[in-house]
Amino acid sequence: MKRILVTGASGLLGLNFCYFFHKKYDVFGVVNTTKLSGLPFKTIRCNLLTNSAADLLDEAKPDVILHCAAMANIDQCEKNPNEAEAINTIYPGLLAAQAAKREIKFLHISTDAVFDGENCGENGYREDDPTNPISRYAETKLKGEEFVLESNPDALVARVNFYGWSTGGNRSLVEFFYNNLSAGNPVNGFSDVYFSTLYVHYLADILDELIGLDASGIYHVFSSDYQSKYNFGVSIAEKFGFDPTLVHPVSWKDGGLAAKRSPNLIMNTEKLQKILGHNLPNQQDSLEYFYKDCQAGLRERIQGFVK
Ligand SMILES: NC(=O)c1ccc[n+]([C@@H]2O[C@H](COP(=O)([O-])OP(=O)(O)OC[C@H]3O[C@@H](n4cnc5c(N)ncnc54)[C@H](OP(=O)(O)O)[C@@H]3O)[C@@H](O)[C@H]2O)c1
Repeated sequence: MKRILVTGASGLLGLNFCYFFHKKYDVFGVVNTTKLSGLPFKTIRCNLLTNSAADLLDEAKPDVILHCAAMANIDQCEKNPNEAEAINTIYPGLLAAQAAKREIKFLHISTDAVFDGENCGENGYREDDPTNPISRYAETKLKGEEFVLESNPDALVARVNFYGWSTGGNRSLVEFFYNNLSAGNPVNGFSDVYFSTLYVHYLADILDELIGLDASGIYHVFSSDYQSKYNFGVSIAEKFGFDPTLVHPVSWKDGGLAAKRSPNLIMNTEKLQKILGHNLPNQQDSLEYFYKDCQAGLRERIQGFVK
């Protein structure tokens, strides 16, 4: 059984990945400030910025690293640019270099926000299209990709956008819609922001496949299609039997957000599809998988790990 070190194991992606794959891999999850208990995998509590990457790898001795830890909140990055740079840019490169030295497979998680969202066209952004980050978050993540690949050319960089259940119940857009709509609260949904988001269980499944294929370089790991955030809200309401008219279409320009968002993040996934050798899930497939996991009690299990 391969041993995998997952940083950000208390975060939305890291925790879901560790939970879904704790029987397939010998999982070592790195958690920092979030207090969790009853996890079905081993954890190390560690602030990555004040502990050496070499010591962490000496302790965990992984075959694979899935690096999910980041300052992933866009507005927090605007307020704390130095910390954002430390965790989103510098640390990933240092960890990737250590992984290269020890011949540990390194998977780094990046973002669709490296593009400005101005002209992706119907076919979406490809991996080698010119990037243009428009927020501190995006800038630090793009530099992180570059530093990772410079330090470790065999690394895999997965650009992603995903949703699912988080420990706090408010990390992802699906939770925003679900929490409000289930309580009968009206919500705004951006009708001019498009994305190719993927349910986190599909994302975890594809990352697992990419580990098996020993893939390297940049991959877009997204849904095969796209929709607006407004439509996403409406589809959640319809699937869960909430009132879809509670979702009001608005422009992101009227959203009162601190940091600029890229409006049109349609992503091209041909490269990924080619290496996987099968079709990718679309938005509806993702919603069905999310719904199925909900019915099976995933939300309660993820939130039940919070101390
Ligand atoms: N969510 C999305 O839709 C989305 C979209 C595009 C890209 N991404 C990328 O996907 C990755 C995972 O995002 P996410 O949404 O799962 O993040 P998240 O829920 O915000 O979790 C962030 C994780 O990073 C950990 N972390 C932050 N600073 C740390 C430090 N100094 N030392 C140790 N751990 C630290 C946190 O640990 P504690 O909580 O224990 O402190 C937490 O586990 C990130 O690279 C993000 O940029 C996410």
